[in-house]
Parts: sequence; C-alpha cells; structure tokens
Amino acid sequence: MEVVICPNSERAEALVAEILFKRIQAKPDIVLGLATGRTMEKLYAKLVEYQLNYSEVSTFNLDEYIGLERIDPHSYWHYMHQHLFNHINIEIENIHMLDGSAKDLKQAARDFEWEIKAAGGIDIQLLGIGRSGHIGFNEPLSSFASRTREKTLTKTTLEQNASMFGGNLHAVPKRALTMGVGTILEARELILLVTGHEKAEILANAVEGPMSSVVSASAVQLHPNCKIIVDRDAAKQLENVEYYQSMFENDPDWEEYRAFGCA
Ligand code: F6R
Repeated sequence: MEVVICPNSERAEALVAEILFKRIQAKPDIVLGLATGRTMEKLYAKLVEYQLNYSEVSTFNLDEYIGLERIDPHSYWHYMHQHLFNHINIEIENIHMLDGSAKDLKQAARDFEWEIKAAGGIDIQLLGIGRSGHIGFNEPLSSFASRTREKTLTKTTLEQNASMFGGNLHAVPKRALTMGVGTILEARELILLVTGHEKAEILANAVEGPMSSVVSASAVQLHPNCKIIVDRDAAKQLENVEYYQSMFENDPDWEEYRAFGCA
C-alpha cells in the first residue's frame, strides 16, 4: 500500500486521471472498476477532457441503490452516463452496472460476479471512502470475504448522500447492491481517491488503524497493489506523512508522476 499526498484536490484528481490514462494506453481492452460520488465528479471530467479511445474498454461499477429505476436521475446508472459514459466512445455492451430495480436482486448479484469473471477480472478498481468507512456500499461489519450482494445503508451514509437527493435524508434509498469487499480485493490494482477534511479521521483509521470489518476500507491493507491518493485536507490525521513523502520522492515507480507536485 502506498499513500501519496497531493497539495490539493485538483492535483489528486489529476494524478489519478493520469494513472488511468497511462493504464488505458498500455492496455486498450482494460477492465476498469468505477465508483460514483462527489469525489469522482472532477476526475471523470478530466477523463472526458483526455478523450481517450474507450472502444475496447469494459467497466464494472461498484454499487447501485435498490428500488431506483435506471433512468431515475438519482441512480448511479444515471450518474455514470451523465459524468462519463455519454461523453466517451465506450460500447454499451461493455458497461456493467448492477440493476437496483431487478426483480431478483440475488440473481442480479450472482450474474454480476459471473460477468466480472467472464471479463477476466478487474484490472484497476477505483474507490472512494464513505464517512462510515465503506468502500462500495460495504458498510461496517461487511466480511472481508463478502461478494456482491444487498446491503442496508448506515445513517452516516444516508446523511452523507442526502445532498444528492436535494438534502432530503428520507429520499435516500435505505438499501443498495454492492460489490463485496472480497470482490474488490480481487481486482489487480486498487486506487483509493480521498479528498476533503471530513474524510481525514476515517482515512487515518482505514490506512493506519487496525484492519477490522468495522472499517471496511481498512481491507485495502490486504491488497498487494493499492495506491491511496489524497489531498492535504484528507491527510490531516495521518501519522506517517514523512515516510509517505519519502516513498513518493524515492520510489522509481513514481518518477514519471513527480511533476504533479505530490509527495
Ligand atoms: C460510490 C461508492 C462509495 C463512495 C463513497 C464516497 O459508488 O462506492 O463508496 O465512493 O461513499 O462518496 P463521496 O465521494 O460522495 O464522498
């Protein structure tokens, strides 16, 4: 696991965009794992600016609210089309998203797992962290071995996401379909992007605290190829900042990214 601290959120987003840009160039038929949420909005705007060739790229999104039709403006299906898919040349059949309006949710979850396997697994999975410590919608006590399934959202998550529902906490669906922690850990590479001071405490718990299902994001400590890219606000409660800076300055793998002024 490597932590990179960027001077602000713009640099953090630009760095993640650049990593994705290079991965897609190196492997045009890459399988991307994608996330939604406020943190990803500017990142997707940057990817749209790059205008890469997505004609062979496949995508799998982490999660979706249960009970929303895909065309609902609050669905993650809608979010992804609004922020990314409508602006790039991705093939519709290569977009894989959980359907929260499916009649048989368990079957939808099983099918999703099968589709990931059929695609050869996820090459690089993008993650954000929720204030509850979730990755995807894996709320506290999600098993590290969990697979795609239904999950009830915590009050913390409902509050966090209410802003996407006009500030109305009661409008946020209480359940979601989500990739499991175990599913996420099988991706070949993880990138966790975290910005903003409100994530500082939970980020420190996830990165430097004990691994525990109470903080699902702490499971990334188990992953052999995980990059955690954060801005200074989100990094405020990290203890080993000096070491993270030294790693970024000295590790040859980061050399091509030093111009981003992160550390
Ligand atoms: C969304 C997802 C969530 C978000 C997390 C952070 O697909 O997987 O884990 O990444 O809730 O959301 P924001 O960025 O809105 O703070």
